[in-house]
Amino acid sequence: MENKRIIIGNLKMNMVASEINDYLKEVNKKINNSDVVICPSSLYIPYFLKQKYKVGIQNIASAENGAHTGEISASQASSLGVEYVIIGHSERRQMYGDTDLLINKKVKLALANNLIPIICVGETNEDKVMFRTEKVINKQITYALRDLSKEDMEKVIIAYEPVWAIGTNVIPTNSDIKNAVSYIKALINTITQYNDAKVLYGGSVNKKNVSQLIKINEVDGFLIGGASLKPDEFSEIIEVAVSK
Ligand code: PGA
Repeated sequence: MENKRIIIGNLKMNMVASEINDYLKEVNKKINNSDVVICPSSLYIPYFLKQKYKVGIQNIASAENGAHTGEISASQASSLGVEYVIIGHSERRQMYGDTDLLINKKVKLALANNLIPIICVGETNEDKVMFRTEKVINKQITYALRDLSKEDMEKVIIAYEPVWAIGTNVIPTNSDIKNAVSYIKALINTITQYNDAKVLYGGSVNKKNVSQLIKINEVDGFLIGGASLKPDEFSEIIEVAVSK
């Protein structure tokens, strides 16, 4: 992967059809950058395809295909033109039973079906106050990357998302982010011998803090939730993050 910042918008379970229409009108006008990935609700993915930006899905099934009511497989997403998949977001880990084991299965299925997995890791507030950040990240990364080769790592993105920073408007200091991201990169090197891993930061990124965040050289881009729902703010963030 080249050395450019990647910006991923995670729309989560927001917006009904009419709002998606309005959103698309704005976003399709404002965002014409192929380093941007938008991850809408699966239901709306077809509306987002064939634009200048790329499209990701927010989750995939941990099974290949068959009798799994309500699930969407990696091959189904890929066959439609989806190129990325968010795996192991903390909301899924906390509310939908995505264990480290399931996450590893999903990562392998993503890679087998030409989807780029965006693997989310990060500590909770409790982990942070107990000084367990590195321990937690170590476990999440080690499991998620189990059986992956050095070559696989060229197609993997990690998002460091401290759980306490998601949707709270509180972000870590630049030096804390730098330490965590450097730790992740070193760990990936140890596990897979790959030394060019892409690691993004996510958690309350907005148009006000992005110019501060881009000063962290170790960070290869951002995963953005709330601010990606506002086309104006999202495109301002992209402008800063991609061009500077
Ligand atoms: P946020 O969400 O930007 O709203 O904090 C980030 C995420 O959940 O990926």
